[in-house]
Amino acid sequence: MEKIRIGIIGTGGISNSHVRSYKQMEDVEIVAGADIIPGKAREALDRWEYPEAQAFESAQEMLEKTELDAVSVCTYNSTHAECAIAALKAGCHVLLEKPMTVTLSDAQALRRVEKETGKILTIGFQPRYDARMQKIKEIVQSGRLGQVYYVQTGGGRRRGIPGRTFIEKRTAGVGALADIGCYSLDMCLNAMGYPKPLTVSAVSYDFFGKNPKYTPPEDAARFSVDDFCGAFIRLEGDITLDFRMSWAMHMDTTGNTLFLGTDAGLKVEPANPESLWGGAWDGSCGNVTLFHDDFGTPTHTPIPLPVPDKSDCFYKKCRAFVDAVKEGGTAPIPTSQIIYNQAIIDGIIRSSECGHEVEIHVDEI
Ligand SMILES: NC(=O)c1ccc[n+]([C@@H]2O[C@H](COP(=O)([O-])OP(=O)(O)OC[C@H]3O[C@@H](n4cnc5c(N)ncnc54)[C@H](O)[C@@H]3O)[C@@H](O)[C@H]2O)c1
Repeated sequence: MEKIRIGIIGTGGISNSHVRSYKQMEDVEIVAGADIIPGKAREALDRWEYPEAQAFESAQEMLEKTELDAVSVCTYNSTHAECAIAALKAGCHVLLEKPMTVTLSDAQALRRVEKETGKILTIGFQPRYDARMQKIKEIVQSGRLGQVYYVQTGGGRRRGIPGRTFIEKRTAGVGALADIGCYSLDMCLNAMGYPKPLTVSAVSYDFFGKNPKYTPPEDAARFSVDDFCGAFIRLEGDITLDFRMSWAMHMDTTGNTLFLGTDAGLKVEPANPESLWGGAWDGSCGNVTLFHDDFGTPTHTPIPLPVPDKSDCFYKKCRAFVDAVKEGGTAPIPTSQIIYNQAIIDGIIRSSECGHEVEIHVDEI
C-alpha cells in the first residue's frame, strides 16, 4: 500500500494529537518533523517512536530535504501563515491548526498561494466532526427556525488562561478571541452557511491576564493579548451576531448560544457552566432546546442529542484530510469559509484598538 508521507511543522503540544491520529492510520507514514527550538523535533519524533524520521530546526529545510505529500502545521498562531505558505509552495497539502492566521491580510495571502498551487489547505476545527454540532447545523439548515436574524454566542472560562506560548502577542498574536473564540464563531457561522461579515464593533480587555492575583507573576509580566472580548457583528442577510469570549472573568458563563428565527428559536446551553475551566463552546454543549409556538401557544421542545464522541473528532479531522489528499478531493474545512472567521477576528482586533465600528472587506480570491 502506498503511504501518504507526512511531515509535522511545530512539535509542541497539539502536534501530539495529530501524530496520535496519524499513528492509527495504516496508509500514513510520519517521515519528518521540524521545530525552531533546537532538539525539540528530534525529541518528539523519538518519543512518537519514529527514530527513522528526519528532524529539522527549520520548516523550510525540512520541505527542501524531504519528500513529502502533506504536512500538519502545528506552530503557534503567529507563524501559521509563513509555514503553511512555505509548505504549499513546496508542493505539500496542508492541514493547518486553528485559527487560520492572526491577521486577515495573512489569511488572504495564504488563500492566494493555495489557489496558485492547487494544493489542499484545510483548517483544523475538529468540533465540526462532533455529532452534536452537526445536529445543531441540521436544525438551523432545516428551515425550522424560519429566517434567522439574531445569533448570540461565545462562552468562556471563569479561570482558564493557558499560559505558555498562548499569552504573548509575538507567538499567539491574539488571546482568548483566537484561541477559543474562533470555535464559537465557526460553529455558528457554519450552522448558518457562513454568511459574509460586513461590520464589527468590539472591545477587548486584559484585566486578568496582566494581574498577578489571577495569573502567575512571570506570566502576568509577559501577558500581551486579550483575555476577554465582546463584539457586535453585522452579517449579510440582515443577521446580527452578538459574541463574547473569556479566558477569565468573575462569572460562570457569558450566556447560552441562541439562534433567533422568525418561526422558532434554538437555545444551546454551555456544557458545564460551573466549571472553572469549561464553558467554551468548542464542541462542548449541554441542553439544546427548540422554542416555538404550537397551535398558537408558546412552548419548547428539548432536542435529543447524539452521545458525545469528542475523543474521536481529532482523528476524524486528520482522517478527512488524508482522504482528501488520497482521493484528490477538496479541503474538508475550506478557507473559502474560514476566511470569514478570520475576517471577524481581524475586525474585532481593529475595532477594539480604534474604539469604534469598522468595516470588513474580504478580497475575492
Ligand atoms: N485543535 C485543537 O484542539 C488545538 C488545541 C491546542 C492548540 N491548537 C492550536 O495549535 C497551535 C499550536 O499550539 P500548541 O499548544 O501546540 O503550542 P506550542 O507552543 O506547544 O507548540 C508550537 C510549536 O511550534 C514551534 N514553532 C513556532 N514557529 C515555528 C516555525 N516557524 N517553524 C517550526 N516550528 C515552529 C514552537 O517552537 C513550538 O514548539 C496553535 O495555533 C493553537 O491554536 C489547537
